[in-house]
Amino acid sequence: MIKFIEDKKIFHLQTNNTSYIIEILPSKHLGSLYYGEKIDFENDYERLKLKLGLEMGGQVAYDESDKVFNLNTAFLEAPTYGKGDFREPMVHLRHRDGSRITDFVFHSYKLLDHKPKINNLPETRAFNKETLKITLKDKARNIFLNLYYTPIQEIDIIARRAELVNNTENDVLIEKIMSFNLDILNQDYYLKTFDGAWIKERQINNQKIYPGIYKIDSKKGVSSADHNPFIILGKEFTDENLGPAYGFSLIYSGGFEALLEVNPVSILRIQMGINSFDFYWNLKSQETFYTPEVLMSFSSSGFNRLSLNFHDLINQYIIKPEFKDKKRPVLFNNWEATMFSFSQRKLIKLAKKAKSLGMEMFVLDDGWFGERNDDKAGLGDWYCNKKKIPLGIEGLAKKINKLGLEFGIWVEPEMINYNSKLYNEHPEWVIRHPNFKPSLGRNQLILDLANPEVVDYLDNVLSKLFSEANIAYCKWDMNRNFSDIYSQNITAENQGKLLHLYMLGLYDLLNRLTNKFPHVLFEACASGGNRFDLGMLYYMPQIWTSDNTDAHSRFLIQYGTYYGYKQSVIGAHVSDSPSQQVLRKTPLETRFNVSAFGLLGYELDITKLTKFESEVIKKQILYYKKHQELLQFGDLYRLKNPFTTNEMQVITVDKEKREAILGIFQTLEVPNAKFDLIKLPMLDKNKTYKISVRKQYFNLDMFGYLIKHALPIKINAKSILFHLIKNRYLFSAEEDTQIVKGEVLVNKGFIPKQPYLGTGYNENIRLMGDFGSRLYYICEVNNDAKG
Ligand code: GLA
Repeated sequence: MIKFIEDKKIFHLQTNNTSYIIEILPSKHLGSLYYGEKIDFENDYERLKLKLGLEMGGQVAYDESDKVFNLNTAFLEAPTYGKGDFREPMVHLRHRDGSRITDFVFHSYKLLDHKPKINNLPETRAFNKETLKITLKDKARNIFLNLYYTPIQEIDIIARRAELVNNTENDVLIEKIMSFNLDILNQDYYLKTFDGAWIKERQINNQKIYPGIYKIDSKKGVSSADHNPFIILGKEFTDENLGPAYGFSLIYSGGFEALLEVNPVSILRIQMGINSFDFYWNLKSQETFYTPEVLMSFSSSGFNRLSLNFHDLINQYIIKPEFKDKKRPVLFNNWEATMFSFSQRKLIKLAKKAKSLGMEMFVLDDGWFGERNDDKAGLGDWYCNKKKIPLGIEGLAKKINKLGLEFGIWVEPEMINYNSKLYNEHPEWVIRHPNFKPSLGRNQLILDLANPEVVDYLDNVLSKLFSEANIAYCKWDMNRNFSDIYSQNITAENQGKLLHLYMLGLYDLLNRLTNKFPHVLFEACASGGNRFDLGMLYYMPQIWTSDNTDAHSRFLIQYGTYYGYKQSVIGAHVSDSPSQQVLRKTPLETRFNVSAFGLLGYELDITKLTKFESEVIKKQILYYKKHQELLQFGDLYRLKNPFTTNEMQVITVDKEKREAILGIFQTLEVPNAKFDLIKLPMLDKNKTYKISVRKQYFNLDMFGYLIKHALPIKINAKSILFHLIKNRYLFSAEEDTQIVKGEVLVNKGFIPKQPYLGTGYNENIRLMGDFGSRLYYICEVNNDAKG
């Protein structure tokens, strides 16, 4: 709902639970007046205004007719530099005469009954939603700034973006243009960011905001694992279920910045957009520049609600409608099993085993094309290496399909190796400066997607691949960051555009391919999670979260990722133990339990499994398939934070609160541990639930010498017999089934069986061990169909 209250010069935007209020100031600048819990339309807007009573020392009066008003203490929606606002501008322009003064004031507005599409950029698909377009005009020139606001009522999200229109006769140089600006009063806010590196993506950082400027950004040309383009503001006391929280997410996959500034009068400025570092854009007469869209959300009931708003946004309005609520297959990926060294025979052996374990898709990862026997060659040559795969991709796909599996393939189209046919043919297609020897990342160079010829070439070669073979899935990888940023295809004055033009080229390519092959399930990847953002999700409905598949590292990474992203987009595979990334040993059941809160896959040499492992994996997959919808699409709540405690707890609940799966994980075993009591406020207090633990199995190895107490027969833990038994014997963990009233679960909590107490073991004990975990299926008693 959007309302313009004309006599008060107020725009009031409402979602189901929030209000966003903008005012036209007497100076005609656009002001941020309120963002928070919903207030009604009849509100006394005057009472929302924070204004100076007297001229303030050190400020510059905007106009001599009002000595008190100055831009530096105003709350603004679209600030610029040059008229007394000394903070970071949202838009910074360099004009023909060398001036950098721009002054945007209100010009007009329109209430549109739809959300206009943005040229070539990913965006929310809320096209039928009412949209407010406010046009500002520079006081001295025919330069216009259009601001768009689209409330998406049911999920408490407002989409925002800006457009700069140059209606002058001359070029204007854009030095900075953010997607939005919001000024609010800083009331001891804390900032949560999701930062990391390769194999350590989206770790949570929480810090108090102080006067000054704080910025996270990526200069890597991709959104990056260093910082995610998603931030949260909350109070010190805000927790998962209580307290105010604001979230901001940028729909962009290139270099970005998120900036916070607190000025001396405690106004907090928030901005996000394309990174202004090393960016400049020469906007010609009559041209328009489009910023990416940003999504804002406010929750008055903690971080879980805020996250759920973004989760629903992703499933309803970001990913392609074909994949909305569409169950994702349990897949096998050969990367961690074989890396580059595989034969056709080995692949088929793996596929047969995958089928026998219950998997649904076989994905052939890196190494199938050109002369790709290691990571030094082949990128660019997207045709099958018949020495490795005599059947060709078409034949292999047929063979895999015959086994009863779908077939998927890995590509890394944005990249090229020196050692490739494509480089010999088109050395000029590479991003580099002719006078410098280019620096390499993973031995590779980046193709210049700002060049339409390159985009056309990739479109053709990949369309050929996707139409010749029966390909149901494609992992789209991207394994290096940008250096040597120069295009031989762009004039000197336009070099500052290169990284954004690259993104536009990439988005164009993805648009063409995903529309041409709508049935192909694309999974984005960038050395794991180096490009995990809403821009990628617009084209590819899931993302490979991290190259780190160690269960413990993974639950930290996934926990951080859940803040901004739904589990239905989070690729999560079970791999071998010890893990290849941290050499840590974790139980097979925990590796599954972690992956179950994402899109399950297996990525290890399954032809070498023991009987124990094969049997356990079969049961895991059956369980996952039985609850696939709930695990992939249920509402996910965080209960316990592994960054600050020894535990992680999460729960996924269906919208009607009829069923749920609770996951409890611990890092290290705690001697003589306390009782557990797990409060579940997200369940329905008027229902009665049956709770049953997923039947899990231990490897006897876990017990060591204690085995003589756990098994009915006496056996020496060092004997050969023991070694033989442990790889075959499935030792069941405790049974735990309870009928509990919802009001107990909501008000007091769920009490699982008591944890291990040392030395003794029986079926009333919940033996977890280091990195142990359990899943509990919870369902309304008269909805017990799945049991
Ligand atoms: C990247 C990906 C991995 C794998 C390799 C193949 O690192 O993140 O999953 O596909 O490339 O080279």
